[in-house]
Amino acid sequence: MSKEIKQGRVLVVGSINTDLVARSPHLPRPGETISGQAFSQVAGGKGGNQAVAAARIGARVAMVGCVGKDANGAQRVKDLETEGIDCAGIEVDPSQPTGVAIVTVSDDGENTIVVVAGSNGQLTPEAVARHEAAIKACDIVVCQLEIPWESVHATLALARRLGKITVLNPAPATGPLPAEWLPLIDYLVPNEVEAAILAGLPVESESGARRAATELQRGGTRNVIVTLGSQGAYLLLEGGEGTHFPAPQVQAVDTTAAGDTFIGVFAAQLAARQPLEGAIQLAQRAAAISVTRAGAQPSIPTRAEVDGAVGV
Ligand code: RIB
Repeated sequence: MSKEIKQGRVLVVGSINTDLVARSPHLPRPGETISGQAFSQVAGGKGGNQAVAAARIGARVAMVGCVGKDANGAQRVKDLETEGIDCAGIEVDPSQPTGVAIVTVSDDGENTIVVVAGSNGQLTPEAVARHEAAIKACDIVVCQLEIPWESVHATLALARRLGKITVLNPAPATGPLPAEWLPLIDYLVPNEVEAAILAGLPVESESGARRAATELQRGGTRNVIVTLGSQGAYLLLEGGEGTHFPAPQVQAVDTTAAGDTFIGVFAAQLAARQPLEGAIQLAQRAAAISVTRAGAQPSIPTRAEVDGAVGV
């Protein structure tokens, strides 16, 4: 019997990249040149990936972003439209090339990523304001940190004013978040590295995640979810109740976009008013499937694949 799925409306305000991916036996050390085994060019960007994850799990998704006036930009918008994502909020800025990410993936599935923001840097607070109607029309707004920080702030503030649920994936993290952002965030979702940077505390386990999440909540963020890769995820609710969610164990091929898959699916479930615990567990299953596949957007599973998966 097919499950009835309520459809929520997710708006992602964030980055769109083309990922240039080299597969190599190990990640090169500083100064080292190594031979790669394969090269591919795939759709990526934390914003785009999270939008695709939300769309493939069944949400109605819109995106606000900025691409360059070039072939990569046109292709990225086409890819997102093919997923059924409303791209009316994606602007084209001829002054910069579309964002790229140089990704290296090793045989054990680990990666390094260097992002060159390009046109993502042109997504200004004024551009966010131009798309107020898209914020009005959604249930939940999702941001990351691959666009100018003042635009993330503008988005969170506008979403709060319009009474929307806000999710911030603080990636890439470079230091503590501005204090005035914290009360604007309903769900802060860092991975263990980002949580450690934001909180200034080591995060290697569930107990470290709890300490960091507690610290991050102090400034007024409502709920914190620290994702811990194969060690699962730790949820700290406003009010102080904490829960650890073990992760499905899989053989990692490529962890790129696993966190994005988690966030897109989680946001889609919340937008559809699904219970929080189930939203986290479904997000974990989708993320686990994504790490068994190569690439960013190519690795993100559909609803049917998540529902039909055995062992995750
Ligand atoms: O989170 C993975 C993403 O980070 C990649 O797709 C890359 O584009 C960078 O934005």
